[in-house]
Amino acid sequence: MRLSGKVAIVTGAGSGIGKETALRFGKEGASVVCYDLKGQEETVTEIKKTNEQAIAFRGDITNSSDWENVVKATKDQFGTIDILGNIAGVTSRGSDKLIDQTEEEWDRMINIDLKGAFLGMRTVIPEMLKKKKGKIINIASLAAHVGLTNLVSYSAAKGGVAAMSRQVAMEYARDNIQVNAVSPGIIDTPILGNNTPEMTKAFSEATPAGRLGKPEEVANLILFLASEEADFITGQVWKVDGGWGSQ
Ligand SMILES: NC(=O)c1ccc[n+]([C@@H]2O[C@H](COP(=O)([O-])OP(=O)(O)OC[C@H]3O[C@@H](n4cnc5c(N)ncnc54)[C@H](O)[C@@H]3O)[C@@H](O)[C@H]2O)c1
Repeated sequence: MRLSGKVAIVTGAGSGIGKETALRFGKEGASVVCYDLKGQEETVTEIKKTNEQAIAFRGDITNSSDWENVVKATKDQFGTIDILGNIAGVTSRGSDKLIDQTEEEWDRMINIDLKGAFLGMRTVIPEMLKKKKGKIINIASLAAHVGLTNLVSYSAAKGGVAAMSRQVAMEYARDNIQVNAVSPGIIDTPILGNNTPEMTKAFSEATPAGRLGKPEEVANLILFLASEEADFITGQVWKVDGGWGSQ
């Protein structure tokens, strides 16, 4: 039970990496608040097969009122917040070159993939400061580290998440709040539905490991970073990408 007695908010808990993370947190003894626009109830039902301490919260990570409400719901139910997993996100359509990218699509990506994590940290950190303890794990991407194509707004948002995570880690290091980012490579989740099958096959073949990653392989690292085993690790961006980012 690596998270026994801990209270965690996990965004994106209705699908993919966020769902796997919420399930792992639950199995390791945490009380889990599953925050998503959809799918969060199903994840809670699954956690409750082994751990009664889980609630669903339906909300939008781009909305500061929803963040206030999820913090209140978490404190009302579980009394405190120890861990924030900022995992929810979207990809751009993956077929727009820079010159075809609309302002609307740019704003949508930055709003969800960058501002969502900012709002989460801004709302949760005051709770962590009260007890001088906390763990935050933000999800960046391979696209923050290597040149890909047709992902200009997504890469900008995820590069921002990586930079913001380092910055916030430094601000709160003396307050015993550890902030890390995790950069997945190509992971087999519903988000890949934005790609054509040919694109997904090409991504798989381009990965040095020769396959797509599994969401649980990302959740394993998030769990470690959320646990007390990682108390001296902060301000880092960790790749889980089958080697792509090392080429
Ligand atoms: N799967 C990959 O290959 C990959 C690679 C790099 C980074 N990532 C990142 O990992 C994270 C999780 O992605 P995934 O692959 O599990 O995708 P997914 O589509 O399976 O899950 C994303 C979840 O985020 C939720 N979400 C989206 N917008 C939201 C909003 N505004 N408010 C609340 N919830 C919202 C969705 O409802 C969904 O349940 C994302 O940040 C994504 O950018 C994924």
